[in-house]
Amino acid sequence: MNAPARGARWLGVADVAELQRTACRRIVVAAERAIKQRGEFIIVLAGGNTPRGVYRLVRAENADWSHWNVYFGDERCLPPDNVERNSKMAAVEWLNHVPIPKDRVHPIPAELGARAAALAYADTLQGVGEFDLVLLGLGEDGHTASLFPNHDWGTAPNAPDVLAVFDAPKPPPQRVSLSAARLSRACEVVFLVAGANKRTALTRWRAGARLPANAIRPPNGVDVLFDAELLTQPR
Ligand code: 6PG
Repeated sequence: MNAPARGARWLGVADVAELQRTACRRIVVAAERAIKQRGEFIIVLAGGNTPRGVYRLVRAENADWSHWNVYFGDERCLPPDNVERNSKMAAVEWLNHVPIPKDRVHPIPAELGARAAALAYADTLQGVGEFDLVLLGLGEDGHTASLFPNHDWGTAPNAPDVLAVFDAPKPPPQRVSLSAARLSRACEVVFLVAGANKRTALTRWRAGARLPANAIRPPNGVDVLFDAELLTQPR
């Protein structure tokens, strides 16, 4: 019997446009709160395509960019300028358009190869405390970041912060991912789920299936922003 997914709040929205607007608002509010409280905002970005529209909306915001610190939840082992890189997507859609100081944007050096990049990024994360906001996507198989079924998700409290991933089922095979434990050290975690191909994974997750997405267990739980269409029967 699957344990019901604890700590997930299922936030169905009307459509992808509404999901993007809602996610953008969540990011801006989280940043304002963190900067007011601590003078800085630490965000972890999701990769893939779903966040593109969100990042395009965020770049138009009048935010206090000089206090933002940007990290990445995972990266594909490709050259830095490869269009398939998550850091390249974020740069094109958002980061190249706002004045976040360059030394406050921390791409994963995945071009070094999975093992070396994981070690390097673990050093980068030394001294970084709880993330204020982590954005994550959901794969068709229930993966998130580059934590895939039948792979190590790094859930133990003493798991490494950063994992080298080999033979990933979603190309490229070599990736780097923050572990479930490190992704869970966050004040807020928001999943962005859109696309008919996510219907099965979302349904399984809501039923409590043991999936990588379900391994992200921050103290305050996670918010799953999803296109409500995904809960209706496919036409
Ligand atoms: C990646 C992402 C991955 C992504 C999901 C959803 O590097 O591929 O980190 O976890 O978030 O696969 O991808 P889409 O948003 O493109 O559907």
